[in-house]
Amino acid sequence: MTVDISTLTLEQKASLLSGHDFWSTKAIPEAGIPSVVLTDGPHGVRRQAGDADHLGINESLPSTCFPPAVAVGSSWDPELAARVGAAVGREGRAFGVTVILGPGVNIKRSPLCGRNFEYYSEDPYLSGVLGAAHVRGMQQTGVGASVKHFAANNQEHERMRISADVDERTLREIYLPAFERVVIEAKPATVMCSYNKINGIYASQNGWLLTDVLRTDWGFAGAVVSDWGAVSDRVAGVAAGMDLEMPGSGGATDRQIVDAVRSGVLDEALVDDAVRRVLALTELPHDATDDLDVDGHHALARELAADSIVLLKNDADTLPVKANTRLAVIGAFATEPRFQGGGSSHINPTKVDVALDAIRDQAWTDGVTVEHAHGFSLDGFGDAALIEAATEVAGRADIAIVFVGLSDSDESEGFDRDTLALPQNQIDLIQAVAEVAPRTVVVLSNGGVVSLEGWHDRVDAIVEGWLLGQAGGSALSDVLFGHVNPSGHLAESIPVRLEDNPSWLNFPGEHGHVRYGEGVFVGYRYYTTAGVPVRYPFGHGLSYTSFSTDDLCIQPVGDAEVEVSVTVTNTGDRAGKHVVQLYVAGGAAPVRRPVRELRGFAKVSLQPGESTTVSLLLDRRAFAHWDVEVGRWVVPAGEYLVQVGADASTVLREQAITLAGDSIVRELTLSSTVGDWFGHPIVGPLLMQGMAAGMTEEQAQQAAENPDQLKMVESMPMQQFLAFTQGAIPTATLEQLMRLSTAPTVPASL
Ligand code: BGC
Repeated sequence: MTVDISTLTLEQKASLLSGHDFWSTKAIPEAGIPSVVLTDGPHGVRRQAGDADHLGINESLPSTCFPPAVAVGSSWDPELAARVGAAVGREGRAFGVTVILGPGVNIKRSPLCGRNFEYYSEDPYLSGVLGAAHVRGMQQTGVGASVKHFAANNQEHERMRISADVDERTLREIYLPAFERVVIEAKPATVMCSYNKINGIYASQNGWLLTDVLRTDWGFAGAVVSDWGAVSDRVAGVAAGMDLEMPGSGGATDRQIVDAVRSGVLDEALVDDAVRRVLALTELPHDATDDLDVDGHHALARELAADSIVLLKNDADTLPVKANTRLAVIGAFATEPRFQGGGSSHINPTKVDVALDAIRDQAWTDGVTVEHAHGFSLDGFGDAALIEAATEVAGRADIAIVFVGLSDSDESEGFDRDTLALPQNQIDLIQAVAEVAPRTVVVLSNGGVVSLEGWHDRVDAIVEGWLLGQAGGSALSDVLFGHVNPSGHLAESIPVRLEDNPSWLNFPGEHGHVRYGEGVFVGYRYYTTAGVPVRYPFGHGLSYTSFSTDDLCIQPVGDAEVEVSVTVTNTGDRAGKHVVQLYVAGGAAPVRRPVRELRGFAKVSLQPGESTTVSLLLDRRAFAHWDVEVGRWVVPAGEYLVQVGADASTVLREQAITLAGDSIVRELTLSSTVGDWFGHPIVGPLLMQGMAAGMTEEQAQQAAENPDQLKMVESMPMQQFLAFTQGAIPTATLEQLMRLSTAPTVPASL
């Protein structure tokens, strides 16, 4: 039912702009307005029936814990992301939830961020494509999504008050595009604003962010909801476009809105706009369907998890495990799986698969034997004895598989890590096992990147299992035995040293500010541009089969779009999935750009010997940078390289293309440099003509013989140049030229 808001009192309208309680909006029964439930999210439904909290402390009803975003990011598979969204949406419907909070598309600026497990990638394109797919899948079930945390929430340290100080180009190119793509392509019901400030202004009252960018530039028509407790100044928030405050404030901020309207501080039309947007949420389904497919969703969670695992290293085909192998399965995470992160996304799973059990189940058919040792304890007690027992078991085996990783106390929402290292007892264990076992495989369970240094070269294979959701244990076993061919690729770089990370000097900030000093050079954009070695680059991932990439063909479409096709062949002997990664390099931009940036990708499934042609369109944004002077995306004319990469550091095929690009005519002022004036496409030639006309023959010859003189003054603002030259160009001429600098038609001469 559509509500006529002119029939509502100001008090009723204001009441709709904050929650009834922790998870629901207010109803106005006499006006036919129901209450709706919003709840976490993103990789499962955290529906609390009892005490509510947003830190994952109190119990919630059992629901399926699907792979968190860190795993989905590594799948490089939008269909997989859409299936997670759809399954979570179906469970949301079962619980009568109207909006599920997620996905999180913040960029992994630092590997230390405690919440990286809830985000997809260090790359905005990959994050945006996967986030949009999640929203699409979820909203097809009728449940609304809430893409979060908008914006520049890239750390947990002081997340509720820190100011992320980021220049506009960096915001537009790195921190906003994932949101932009989700908003434009998938039209989420809501966007959740973040806790932090952006350049000094809280996201929850940031009119530039919530209105100018989100609504005006991107056309967002849904509601903005605050992160839980993110409101600082409610009235400023309504004016900025922040519609729904969650959780409720017990009516306090509703009264502030009423008073502000009555005293003329806040325009009632803005309240009406916010009310309309909140009311649109009540049109979404909100009755519980009560049909949770527990077993079906568990099986789905297993399939999706297996396709997200990244095989980092596999010397001498150690994996998959062959028939009749004696296995030693070692490590606490083999029996006490870590499959999700701590905080508001914490799901009460319907069941949990344990890797050791899954390995034993799959082992007997192949004549594989399994011995187990605990190897280490999560509380760090009795390690020497545990390591000794583990080496005994490992010494009797053909392959030792060591399950290590981070525990809940190492990483979580709410705080950042200060090291990339695994706990020392686990490093000691890996080293001791690798000494005695003929072959050693390390299986990692971690939400954020861990350092592989100190043990990487001593082991034969490394399986990056991230946090895989409740079926992660069997998904890992599926990959170890080769029932699933690994096809995940890194969505974030694994650095050699923490200090190599470009945010390192500016993370997590000080005195209430975190300066994004590395600009657009985040993750692989920095490593590849500065030539800093990494342990494994963004995009890296091995398979049990091999692929070839041939016949790269690029075709311009119009001035700034390019059609790309490439043929991929499975050259090995087992079926597998391959990710085509398309990067764009270079371009004669007036700004410093990364050497290459991911601009397209596609995951294809191929039988042994099978080939397929993958076609991708690079739109103009693939070549553009954000030009702060003209306030829009600009494609500079010039040559670009279209590259197919095995990962961000390894180019397999490339082709050059020259684009006509955009012709930008910049307005000239007295602060523009002499170089800007002479280089201006309209004014430059006129100026040259005029100067030449006013010169004696001798002066003209001198100017021609000394081009360096012009170079010396090129960077001088025109105002200073005039002062030094006692007004070399008459004021009237300058004024005429400044008017002409943006003129649609150009005179032949002055
Ligand atoms: C988190 C959000 C979450 C909300 C509700 C906040 O603390 O930042 O991601 O959706 O709580 O639980």
